[in-house]
Amino acid sequence: MKPKNIVVFASGGGSNFKALHKATLNKEVPARITALISDNPDAGALKYARENEIRGIVLSPRDYDNQAAYTDMLRKILEKESPKLIVLAGYLKKIPDEIVDLYKRRIINIHPALLPKYGGKGWYGMRVHRAVIENRDKESGCTVHYVTRDYDEGPIIAQSKVPVREDDTAESLAARVLKQEHLLYPKVVRFLLSHN
Ligand code: GRF
Repeated sequence: MKPKNIVVFASGGGSNFKALHKATLNKEVPARITALISDNPDAGALKYARENEIRGIVLSPRDYDNQAAYTDMLRKILEKESPKLIVLAGYLKKIPDEIVDLYKRRIINIHPALLPKYGGKGWYGMRVHRAVIENRDKESGCTVHYVTRDYDEGPIIAQSKVPVREDDTAESLAARVLKQEHLLYPKVVRFLLSHN
């Protein structure tokens, strides 16, 4: 299969981005990550991109006078990269509606919970894992879903479950879930690229 272009968005450390990049290098995922877009100039993901010859782009709505100008810039960047798939990996900004509509069923996200539980605006990072522990859930996991106009509400593509142990802390649970994310996300990307 000829490699297809992927663009990744990440705001933080980017361990999912790194896992996906490794999977492209070992050909598990027949794709080329052409660009990493981040709203955070200090993101570990950006540093990794630059060290690995992936175009690192800092783009934040804060730097634009209005939402339309920001959206326009994002649209132009994406047009240039012509991605088959846009992969959100720990990206904390909302993708503008116009972009979501333009790339319908071509933007995916990974969420550290079994959606529809613990999803929606404000549900991210350790907040999710703390709530799982507080609610004494017996299992948690991660979900890959299509991105639609509403946070975490797009159709679910795949989930991976992990047990929640009696002595788990939010941190130990987060680490277990993240490990699954690194396995699940490349698999889903591979699947989607081969079926599109
Ligand atoms: C992951 O837990 C992912 O589910 C969520 O943000 C986190 C990103 O982690 N959307 P990393 O930057 O990939 O390490």
